[in-house]
Amino acid sequence: MSDKMQIDGIEVTFSEGETVLEVAQRHQKEIPTLCYDPRLEPFGGCRLCIVEVEGARNPMASCTTKATSGMIVRTATGPIETYRKTLLEMVISENREVDVHPLSGYASGELADLRDKYAINEAKITGTKSGTTKDDDNPFILRDYDLCISCYRCVRVCAEQEGDHAINVMNRGFRTQITTEFDGLLKDSACTFCGQCIQTCPTGALADKKALRAVDEVVDATLDKTRTICPYCGVGCSVDVLTKDKKIVGIHPAMDGPANQGALCVKGQFAYDFVQHPDRLKAPLIRGEDGELHEAAWEDALDKAAEGFRKVDSEHGRYSVYGIASGRAPSEAAYLMQKFIRVGFGTNYIDNCSRA
Ligand code: SF4
Ligand code: SF4
Ligand code: FES
Repeated sequence: MSDKMQIDGIEVTFSEGETVLEVAQRHQKEIPTLCYDPRLEPFGGCRLCIVEVEGARNPMASCTTKATSGMIVRTATGPIETYRKTLLEMVISENREVDVHPLSGYASGELADLRDKYAINEAKITGTKSGTTKDDDNPFILRDYDLCISCYRCVRVCAEQEGDHAINVMNRGFRTQITTEFDGLLKDSACTFCGQCIQTCPTGALADKKALRAVDEVVDATLDKTRTICPYCGVGCSVDVLTKDKKIVGIHPAMDGPANQGALCVKGQFAYDFVQHPDRLKAPLIRGEDGELHEAAWEDALDKAAEGFRKVDSEHGRYSVYGIASGRAPSEAAYLMQKFIRVGFGTNYIDNCSRA
């Protein structure tokens, strides 16, 4: 059931349970956010998304305030924009380096974008800073907490999206630090290296080590982005493959991917080296009399495979052959594969890796 409220003088409808931020965004209102990730439960930590609500004594965080019937909201008054600017100045005073490499992660430029939008003087507020960099010996995730602004998006994505709870917050105030159990290394924790924390971090404090290793001299404009599907399993997560000069340098999860909505596992996020690996097979190989593999024509390779199947069938019986189709093969190929086993061998010894 939809109800009505007013945003910046315009009457809009909303559904029960929607927040003011969600309604405003649906009506093309640009409200700045930092601790907000639309996939996560609202947190209300950064207060950047404050709006004026008529009748309320103080500005309210739009990401945690539910829309109610008759509500009158103003999203960008002079005082509200001044509050936001001051909040941003305080947040940025925590961060040693606002401009980060574009390959750090999907959201890593959010703080820098807001700094530019609000023309923030980075040196206006100075003083004690929190967070110390963790020298973490793992191949995938850089943990540079000098850049951390304690938005806790990483902690929440790990708990809410991944169900992993591998990281959490230690201490309070200027001693606040994102950490693992017993403050150890990620590889000794429950972390599965899915990379979700990297992709939600708005400052690059958590960054994609592998992508950063691949290319130093990269600016956003030199990267190509190609939307495709992870080739590993039947979930079919959507990804944006980042390439420079036709070489894969990183993967961004597709936040609008219908199957994954921004989530990936370690394979989809990091295991793309096979694409350009020199050992990758590009033609069929047949093992010769000399015991070595030799490149062959498809016709010969298929004849050889058929000969092998017939031999196994006649020597060991039809139940000695078991077919597993690839989750990434098209439906037509999966259909042919089960026909091959069911009709060719007369068994139901057929499966698909998507079930694994
Ligand atoms: S590491 Fe990044 S995502 Fe995590 S709390 Fe710090 S700034 Fe936020
Ligand atoms: S392997 Fe992982 S990232 Fe790839 S489709 Fe399956 S779940 Fe998604
Ligand atoms: S985005 Fe709403 S409080 Fe941070």
